[in-house]
Amino acid sequence: THVVTEACIHCKYTDCVVPCPVDCFHEGPNFLAIDPDECIDCTLCVEECPVHAIYRDVDLPDGQEVFLEINARLITHWPVIVQKKPALPEAEHWAQVEQKRHLLEE
Ligand code: F3S
Repeated sequence: THVVTEACIHCKYTDCVVPCPVDCFHEGPNFLAIDPDECIDCTLCVEECPVHAIYRDVDLPDGQEVFLEINARLITHWPVIVQKKPALPEAEHWAQVEQKRHLLEE
């Protein structure tokens, strides 16, 4: 599966949902999560993300491994998102911030 990581938090650009052939993205208040049982590892979303938040599970950067479990948990109570919408208002600011894990709204 592919995994949405920390960089998405408070940005939520949603470009990633457009090419997804299996509608595996779920939307929370300030983050998207990928359903690991639906993702087919097509990789089409990876290049769409302006902040490079999406990785394959086996290629997660150091410190981002926890997001594998976070994605799997959050999709269970977040709705599917299939259409792009405007990024969060402060997205450009938050795109520059690295330590955002504690700001994830579940
Ligand atoms: Fe998040 Fe990037 Fe998608 S910021 S919503 S993973 S395009």
